[in-house]
Parts: sequence; C-alpha cells; structure tokens
Amino acid sequence: MADKVTRRKFVLTGTAGLAAAAAAPTFAQAPTVIMKKSVKPVVIASANGNKFKNGGQVTGIEKAFSMMTQGSDVLDALIAGVNIVELDPEETSVGYGGLPNADGIVQLDSCCMHGPRKRAGGVAAIEGVRTPSLVAQKVMDETDHHLIVGKGAQEFARAMGFKIEDDLNTDRSRKAWIEWKRRTDPLHYLDPIKRQAAIRRVEFEMMEEGWVDPNHFYGTINCDGINAKGEICGVTTTSGLAWKIPGRVGDSPILGAGLYVDGEVGAAGSTGRGEANLYNLTSFLIVENMRRGMHPKDAGMDAMKRIKANTVEKRLQRADSNPNFNINFYILNAQGQHAGLAMYAENDVSYAVCTENGAQTIPCEPLLAGKSTE
Ligand code: GLY
Repeated sequence: MADKVTRRKFVLTGTAGLAAAAAAPTFAQAPTVIMKKSVKPVVIASANGNKFKNGGQVTGIEKAFSMMTQGSDVLDALIAGVNIVELDPEETSVGYGGLPNADGIVQLDSCCMHGPRKRAGGVAAIEGVRTPSLVAQKVMDETDHHLIVGKGAQEFARAMGFKIEDDLNTDRSRKAWIEWKRRTDPLHYLDPIKRQAAIRRVEFEMMEEGWVDPNHFYGTINCDGINAKGEICGVTTTSGLAWKIPGRVGDSPILGAGLYVDGEVGAAGSTGRGEANLYNLTSFLIVENMRRGMHPKDAGMDAMKRIKANTVEKRLQRADSNPNFNINFYILNAQGQHAGLAMYAENDVSYAVCTENGAQTIPCEPLLAGKSTE
C-alpha cells in the first residue's frame, strides 16, 4: 500500500524537520510524496472485461489478473486481457466485429499507459487490425510518438508485422450496419438538425430492438491494474461510436480522456459518450483529484458533475436539463481502492473487478437518478 503525505508533513517528520520547515518554501497546494508499500493486486474493467471469453476459459480480467500475479508486466497482462475482448466476434463494440462507421468500415481506437515507465502510445481510426491495443503498445515501445492515426497507423502496424485484413466486420456487425443504412438513408435530405434528430431516433429504436447493446453504443473496454509492487498501468480499446462519421475519433485513444495513468497516483478510464469525455478530459481530472487525496469514488463523481455542468446544449439534455447520454468511469488508486461510476444506473451498467478472490461484476454508482432517455 502507498502512504500519501504532503511535502510539509514529510519534511516535518524528518530528522532536520524544524530547521528544514523554517527554510521550506510555501506551496499554494502541497505536492504529494508517495512511499510505496505492497498492495493487494487488482484488475478493474468495464463490464465486458468479465463477460467475453472468445471461446476460451477465462474472461479478460481473469487473464490479466493471472498473468499479472504470475509476474508479467502489468501492461502486458492488461493488454492480453483486452485482446480476448477485441478478438471475440460477439463483442460488437471493440476490435473484430465492432460496429462499423457510416460507410460500413470498422475503424478502431486505442491507447495504453505504463505507470512505472511513464510511457504511453495510441492509435486512432486504424483499419484492418483486430487488436489495436497491441499496435498502441508498439507505438509506445518502438517510437518517440504518442499517437498515430488512420492510414499511417495501419502502415505502422504492417511494418511492425501485424496482419492487415480487408474487412473486420462479422456477419452480425454488417447486418446491423445494413439495417441502420436502410432506416437512415431516406432521411439524408432533411435539414441537418432534423436529420440528426431522425438518425438519433433510429439509433434508439435499434437499441430498443436489440441490434445494439445500449451500454456499448459508444463501444469500448477500459482495463486498469495494479500489482503487489504497486505498479499501475491501463489500456482502453474500442470500435467507437456505432455508425460514426468516417474518421471520427473518440476519447479512447486520447491520453487524459479515455485513459490516464499516473504511476504514483492511480488510473482512470472511461466508456460512453466520448465527446463529453473529450470536452472535459475527465480521466486526467480524476487522476488529479486523486493526487489531491480524493477517494476514487469522490474523484470520479466530481468529474461526472463537471460533465453535467458543461452539458448545456439542448440537443444533449433531457427535459430536466440533465444529460441525455450515459458515461462511465473506472477508477483505481495506488492503494488498490477502486470505483465504477455512471451518469445513470441504467441497463444494469456495471464494472468488472478481479482480485485473489476471483472475478465479479459490480453495479456502477450513478450520479443521477433515472435514465439518460425519458
Ligand atoms: N467512448 C468511446 C467513444 O466515444 O468512441
């Protein structure tokens, strides 16, 4: 476990405490000094991390936890876990079989952060690679860059030895796209505001009819872990918003939005409406809140309130002015404490946790009562 003390307290408890304190500069906000002790290892993720097995025996968080506790690098373990979800054709919000963009092409986003190494990498709008998280890790390990996008990301993946496929649709994702096209194409000549509202109506209908999992309309798995040495890493990977405008990049590959890790403080990641998360950089905000001593739950609720306060456009509000979308946070601190939060507790929204006691799925705590749609 890590004890967190302020610089002032640290100095005062030292042997030269009083003298040093007299000479110490005044800090408007005392920076933290972290002393690491051992931590109980834990892996957390969005609920799909404890659902999909891609035909194997274990879920993503079980795989990550077992690799991590057997000595693998924490990030290697987490990425092996999310690879199960990326490769599972039944998961329509991540990797292979993820719902495609408006042109029927699957474009994937991912990033990863390594706490101890203070390194990160990401790819956005990459096509043809089932496991964008592994490409993101290559960006981190093999380049000086943090983000490679589009055709460049695909060429980079090819150069790194990844198989590039023509089409990452499954029969299921293709059928859902064709159905979306069938329902929305007649609407393309409406004025832009009416058209947007009409498309949104179709998308809600399709969620209600079971074409799309409402919790994963925006796609994504986020997975974060800490080992017994207190080493923290995280990864987020997604096919993004279903039927997005080609080239649209969400929050998932953006450091500070879909994921942020500080090896001394903790990790935060998100699923749900990426645009809200991009606007507010909530993963970074959550980690900074924890740096100031907030518990993961309080740190996340504060960020959730920021999103609510900044959602001022009517098209994004319910009749009572609250947001008309959901967004979720998965938060882990350097003591191994964690939280899973949602704007609304709808559709059994939950998060996945794996410890030495096994894997479980726990309801997310909501900021607001009711549902995103009335
Ligand atoms: N949160 C995933 C996305 O909006 O793309």
